[in-house]
Amino acid sequence: MRRKLAAGNWKMNGTSANLAQIEALKDAHVGALSEILIAPPTSLLHRASVVAENGPVALAAQDCHKGESGAHTGDVSADMLKDAGATYVILGHSERRADHDEHDEDVRAKARGALKAGLRVIICMGEELEEREADNTLDIIAGQLAGSIPDDIDGENLVVAYEPIWAIGTGKVPSVAQITEVHDFIRARLEHRFGLKIARAVRLLYGGSVKASNATEIFAIENVDGALVGGASLKAEDFSPIITALDKS
Ligand code: 13P
Repeated sequence: MRRKLAAGNWKMNGTSANLAQIEALKDAHVGALSEILIAPPTSLLHRASVVAENGPVALAAQDCHKGESGAHTGDVSADMLKDAGATYVILGHSERRADHDEHDEDVRAKARGALKAGLRVIICMGEELEEREADNTLDIIAGQLAGSIPDDIDGENLVVAYEPIWAIGTGKVPSVAQITEVHDFIRARLEHRFGLKIARAVRLLYGGSVKASNATEIFAIENVDGALVGGASLKAEDFSPIITALDKS
């Protein structure tokens, strides 16, 4: 059985004052059925891990360098993130692909570095609106899956997040049929490449304008194992009902 995963991506938001949100989640979800993950900005990672200690909330980083160490000013390696308290790292988010010109091969190299350091990876993918309108969604996803995911995964160390770019921060959410189609497709492609046992262990998250008001409907979809939540993860009062909906799904 795959453990459901509620992951909050704070993006470039949050200073010390926001650590109270992690404290609140920790208190509210003792004994949660779902795994709970917060990806704070790197500047807060270590302090967030101290706050979260011995509770149900684990920490993720939002990116890493592909290498272990070296002359890369401003970059942070997976080893360093693990040392700061992360157990997961989000890779290939569409904002990184757009802002930093990251391509599938970069994401794959970072994923290899992260796995080697013992982090689990959350690899993001999704189509632009024009690609969906041109009926190219599954082709885009197939390419991103093939290009971004390294060979050396065991299933449990990989999470795939389907985040249609047009749904991120827009309040627009794909229909249940559209999410179902993409998630079923991802599971089938993983099975084709890695075999049934590994494919069944990979968690598939939906991301893009997830809120308490749409979470129950999304979590009822068979191949949705949780969510990657942006805006609605910043405040415990918004994220908490999403976690509760996932626990009940
Ligand atoms: P929103 O939930 O704000 O749409 O962001 C989704 C996202 O990009 C999570 O990584």
